[in-house]
Amino acid sequence: MDRASELLFYVNGRKVIEKNVDPETMLLPYLRKKLRLTGTKYGCGGGGCGACTVMISRYNPITKRIRHHPANACLIPICSLYGAAVTTVEGIGSTHTRIHPVQERIAKCHGTQCGFCTPGMVMSIYTLLRNHPEPTLDQLTDALGGNLCRCTGYRPIIDACKTFCKTSGCCQSKENGVCCLDQGINGLPEFEEGSKTSPKLFAEEEFLPLDPTQELIFPPELMIMAEKQSQRTRVFSGERMMWFSPVTLKELLEFKFKYPQAPVVMGNTSVGPEVKFKGVFHPVIISPDRIEELSVVNHAYNGLTLGAGLSLAQVKDILADVVQKLPEEKTQMYHALLKHLGTLAGSQIRNMASLGGHIISRHPDSDLNPILAVGNCTLNLLSKEGKRQIPLNEQFLSKCPNADLKPQEILVSVNIPYSRKWEFVSAFRQAQRQENALAIVNSGMRVFFGEGDGIIRELCISYGGVGPTTICAKNSCQKLIGRCWNEEMLDTACRLVLDEVSLLGSAPGGKVEFKRTLIISFLFKFYLEVSQILKKMDPVHYPSLADKYESALEDLHSKHHCSTLKYQNIGPKQHPEDPIGHPIMHLSGVKHATGEAIYCDDMPLVDQEFFLTFVTSSRAHAKIVSIDLSEALSMPGVVDIMTAEHLGDVNSFCFFTEAEKFLATDKVFCVGQLVCAVLADSEVQAKRAAKRVKIVYQDLEPLILTIEESIQHNSFFEPERKLEYGNVDEAFKVVDQILEGEIHMGGQEHFYMETQSMLVVPKGEDQEMDVYVSTQFPKYIQDIVASTLKLPANKVMCHVRRVGGAFGGKVLKTGIIAAVTAFAANKHGHAVRCVLERGEDMLITGGRHPYLGKYKVRIINMYKEIDQTPYKQEINAKNLIQCWRECMAMSSYSLRKVAVEKFNAENYWKKKGLAMVPLKYPVGLGSRAAGQAAALVHIYLDGSVLVTHGGIEMGQGVHTKMIQVVSRELRMPMSNVHLRGTSTETVPNANISGGSVVADLNGLAVKDACQTLLKRLEPIISKNPKGTWKDWAQTAFDESISLSAVGYFRGYESDMNWEKGEGHPFEYFVYGAACSEVEIDCLTGDHKNIRTDIVMDVGCSINPAIDVGQIEGAFIQGMGLYTIEELNYSPQGILHTRGPDQYKIPAICDMPTELHIVLLPPSQNSNTLYSSKGLGESGVFLGCSVFFAIHDAVSAARQERGLHGPLSLNSPLTPEKIRMACEDKFTKMIPRDEPGSYVPWNVPI
Ligand SMILES: Cc1cc2nc3c(=O)[nH]c(=O)nc-3n(C[C@H](O)[C@H](O)[C@H](O)COP(=O)(O)OP(=O)(O)OC[C@H]3O[C@@H](n4cnc5c(N)ncnc54)[C@H](O)[C@@H]3O)c2cc1C
Ligand code: FES
Ligand code: FES
Repeated sequence: MDRASELLFYVNGRKVIEKNVDPETMLLPYLRKKLRLTGTKYGCGGGGCGACTVMISRYNPITKRIRHHPANACLIPICSLYGAAVTTVEGIGSTHTRIHPVQERIAKCHGTQCGFCTPGMVMSIYTLLRNHPEPTLDQLTDALGGNLCRCTGYRPIIDACKTFCKTSGCCQSKENGVCCLDQGINGLPEFEEGSKTSPKLFAEEEFLPLDPTQELIFPPELMIMAEKQSQRTRVFSGERMMWFSPVTLKELLEFKFKYPQAPVVMGNTSVGPEVKFKGVFHPVIISPDRIEELSVVNHAYNGLTLGAGLSLAQVKDILADVVQKLPEEKTQMYHALLKHLGTLAGSQIRNMASLGGHIISRHPDSDLNPILAVGNCTLNLLSKEGKRQIPLNEQFLSKCPNADLKPQEILVSVNIPYSRKWEFVSAFRQAQRQENALAIVNSGMRVFFGEGDGIIRELCISYGGVGPTTICAKNSCQKLIGRCWNEEMLDTACRLVLDEVSLLGSAPGGKVEFKRTLIISFLFKFYLEVSQILKKMDPVHYPSLADKYESALEDLHSKHHCSTLKYQNIGPKQHPEDPIGHPIMHLSGVKHATGEAIYCDDMPLVDQEFFLTFVTSSRAHAKIVSIDLSEALSMPGVVDIMTAEHLGDVNSFCFFTEAEKFLATDKVFCVGQLVCAVLADSEVQAKRAAKRVKIVYQDLEPLILTIEESIQHNSFFEPERKLEYGNVDEAFKVVDQILEGEIHMGGQEHFYMETQSMLVVPKGEDQEMDVYVSTQFPKYIQDIVASTLKLPANKVMCHVRRVGGAFGGKVLKTGIIAAVTAFAANKHGHAVRCVLERGEDMLITGGRHPYLGKYKVRIINMYKEIDQTPYKQEINAKNLIQCWRECMAMSSYSLRKVAVEKFNAENYWKKKGLAMVPLKYPVGLGSRAAGQAAALVHIYLDGSVLVTHGGIEMGQGVHTKMIQVVSRELRMPMSNVHLRGTSTETVPNANISGGSVVADLNGLAVKDACQTLLKRLEPIISKNPKGTWKDWAQTAFDESISLSAVGYFRGYESDMNWEKGEGHPFEYFVYGAACSEVEIDCLTGDHKNIRTDIVMDVGCSINPAIDVGQIEGAFIQGMGLYTIEELNYSPQGILHTRGPDQYKIPAICDMPTELHIVLLPPSQNSNTLYSSKGLGESGVFLGCSVFFAIHDAVSAARQERGLHGPLSLNSPLTPEKIRMACEDKFTKMIPRDEPGSYVPWNVPI
């Protein structure tokens, strides 16, 4: 065997040769650390977020074609890249050369906020355009389905993408040729020319055209290599792993014979996550490369044969082509497979994952195996001993030894037969999110009648998500053979299947009753689908479905999006060069899109840098009996392991009233609590050693996990607060109606895309320490680090250039992690980096807390124009009322309410709901001191300006707004002003960036600094009014006038007397209203966001593009909070949901199909910056309009089913809760478990 051990591939047109490659290395760390291409980001490491998307291109010497596809760099072993060309975000354009149209448009259309997801988004769109220069909207949304963004809410990203579509900017959803843009909102004409409002936040006509000839060419060397060179098996051996890449089938079989236990790695999307998250280790990997036989596509007389090495994306294309060409009768299986291939994972995973890998993995929630299992498919196997064929059936799926592959066998291809006349196949799935989410339950079903008599000749039903592997309801199906396809059969079928596919109350994954209900709801859907086809085929013999029931059939998915935005126009008196009020692009927008924006972990390695990782508690309440560090300390590369004992008297810090410990001492109080910190010379070594730390615990009582349990145990956080307005008891005695109840709201993970990251660098002189950290609160980091190191604050400087999303999650825990990291750096005199993995981050940082609300109210009423809050603060609610009225009108609430009712009367299994909610969001920080802010403005002698302030840029565009402020105040172009980042060195003692007021408060400080400067320079300017800033600066210098000024804002007046229950805690209120419409599937619990209209009062917007972005981004995050984001904990308090695979934040598919946002006309808001209002958090609440719309739809379903009692639904309103609330004959049919008779997989927290 001819072997080579040199790895050769291209990255961005440059050849990369690796002589001693470690097969355990993935492309993402290789790009980021070795090649220093930090544009590609780490968000999850498991293929679930898309932040690491790159384009992989390969030349096929047989077809002579180059295939470009998107891929998740975090799951690509670099050894698999031989002969491939990798393109990263840096490879397509940069500010130094030329930015790519995709980069330009995503930035200019305001599709970036924190920018952390942006390179991934850019690469997904770029790859799509390489394959389809004028894509359809469906192709676009499909391409972005695997990319998550936590900030923008996706609308502006879609807007940017739409500019590449043929019919740019249009929703493409109207069949009559009239598009959304022609119609305006509710068919009203679009914004008037030159009127008070503007329709566009960007100017499309300025965009660079997409010119495919300018793209990076595929490296000719790789083409020649593929064409000419005799292929050689490659062998790479690392410290712990051997990698074999055979290039012929014969060699592959030989390797499999020699190493029967070695996995055959294709896409690595199954093996990779197992290695990373489950600790599986393979000493040998076999990874076939370009073996033709594995990519076969053979159309035989009885069906299709597809090579096991084809990617799922290729399978999708092949099947899409086949169903076009063949009669429907033959393609039932292919249609069913296509249905699931459309939603399976994201585009990146579908392009990496292979058909063979998917089948052989036999994941319990596989989407394709349940379909393949019902379709008489067979597997073509091969080994050195020869070929054989086995059926893809239940025995194979349950890995029965006599029905499985032998260890030395490989899967070559799969035969998928054509369907026959009178044969029908369907596929069903329900997941927490419509796309890119593993199914909770999925199913494949096939019936064959033989002829048109409706007698079942063959029936196969299989399910995923209900057991350790795909489960076939074989016995039930057998018993139904010979039965007529009618309701009686359906009833029997449901009972039989429920009996056969039984799920224990304690089944992994939980949602047991929901799963049982889905099992038969899918069966019912299948029954109706087949009945409808039978009716079409033979209208005489088969009864029609009642119209109402047809609604069970369609799916809810819709990919067409349209949006309109209406914002305040600039007043005629404003100077044309004054940028305030203009939709200015985010200052870093283009750099986000080119990957040049530097985040904390993008900073280059410091000489002799160490990496720190934590060992955390695995118990919720326990005594630490012992910690054994010996084995971990003996691991290679380990420098130190620190426990509470090492930190001694600096192991805690008091921020609020009680000191919080950094590392646990004798007891732990939650799973994920920090216990010790492992320091090693690389991340890999630190992580490996952390696994070897042995902690012995002794569990303690009580174990308090839920709010109810803490009430029971009298375990409260102090102080308790109470507000009473008037005589509450008396008032309740005289009212006609009292509404009383309880609502539980689940917690939320912040899910900022950039995980907690920091780099602490001892300066080596005067004990100075620099802390580079992704935080919202540098002053706090400075304080906690200084206290830990027993240094004065002036020795510790904290620097933050930008933060990749925070949402309140980068404050206190960040401080504790920074304190321990700084302790390690100080102790060893080395720079120390600490970057949490997504799972660690979710476990350690906690997130937003759950709530339990008990209420007793008289009537729900809205504020009158001049009114008082319950704490007796006067408010003027005029704008609230105006928002409400505008929203009513703009959403055509009344008309649509009637339409919804009509729809509900006509559809039994689908219901629509409509709900509108008002918003009053208080802005203020509780004390004047908490609202003070400072800024520093320097003018240099060339006339350029540098501004700094205490606020953190975390996506909310504060730096952009600050430059707008300087530009207005100093009457100079924005391009003349620069902002480098935030540091405790330039602005000391800055308050936390949070509470929606960062631009508000810091803007007043920046304005103050500018005004001070202007006052000083006014005499010089008036003497030389035609001069430039360079002239004025020089004159000022010559006259010894300082060109630097500090600006300050003392904070808003704020007081609250909790004793009396009254005060003036807030400076002002943001008002708004949102109306949302949804449609639910009563059989599956699925829901679709049809339309949302939002009206917000933002005072006078400083930057409508940023403000609209804040509103819609927050709205979508709120929608996630109230609908699909569900944290799951085990009864022992262990968080199950530790990454995007288990925890679903909204993806592109969750965007309302129509989204309309209107900002109220400018209104004066006396004390604030240019009468603006701080936005950010307020929109989150509006997400509950979707919750109430779903509530409305569920209520309609219940009413129709005769359930008239009160309906109490908790948040998040997940598919499970929706389905189980739409009670019907199926929910009645399922077995229920006695509470207490089993240990559930999760407990509601
Ligand atoms: C983020 C993410 C989201 C996902 N979402 C979904 C989803 O929504 N629905 C769904 O159904 N699945 C989903 N998956 C699972 C995905 O479909 C599988 O991981 C994938 O199909 C496996 O293919 P692969 O080529 O990557 O397999 P690999 O990881 O390369 O291999 C998997 C296994 O198959 C074996 N194998 C591969 N090829 C052969 C062969 N020719 N002969 C013998 N053995 C072979 C290997 O030995 C190995 O044991 C998701 C995965 C990820 C990472
Ligand atoms: S980091 Fe690769 S997909 Fe999330
Ligand atoms: S801009 Fe998308 S995650 Fe922040």
